Amino acid sequence: MILWEKRYETGIPAVDMHHRVLVRTFNDFEEALSSDQLDYATIKELLLFLKHYAGWHFSREEEVAECYACPVAEKNRKAHQGFIHHFQQRFEQLKTLSREPGTLRQFARVLHQELSQWLVSHVLNVDQQIGHCVQQHRHQEGSPGSQQEDTP
Ligand SMILES: [Fe+2]
Repeated sequence: MILWEKRYETGIPAVDMHHRVLVRTFNDFEEALSSDQLDYATIKELLLFLKHYAGWHFSREEEVAECYACPVAEKNRKAHQGFIHHFQQRFEQLKTLSREPGTLRQFARVLHQELSQWLVSHVLNVDQQIGHCVQQHRHQEGSPGSQQEDTP
């Protein structure tokens, strides 16, 4: 379970909202994994969600990083590409996987671990740097605090 903490916030309202959705979906998956509700469809749903929602969110976040010419923009884009590629591979694996419950559960455990590590480390590292970069630009633009509710 990832409990949302202040330290996860980038200060960019739209990005923080997207991250909360990702964390909520991760937590729902964990709940299914720890109950007997886990099946092939649950795993497929998670992987499709990651492909579409995370893919969409990454594009929005990359636009912000480029718009503010953040030094970490390229590193962020590459990390996102790696994420999409990795979980696309996991999706391909799922298609060929046995539907036997023990096999599905083991596969889901691996996904759970990979996703939790990626989310926490990426949001706390690269995404925080984007947040600082955006805040710095806004501060330099004058009237500190006046644009805090803006969504780039
Ligand atoms: Fe990111």
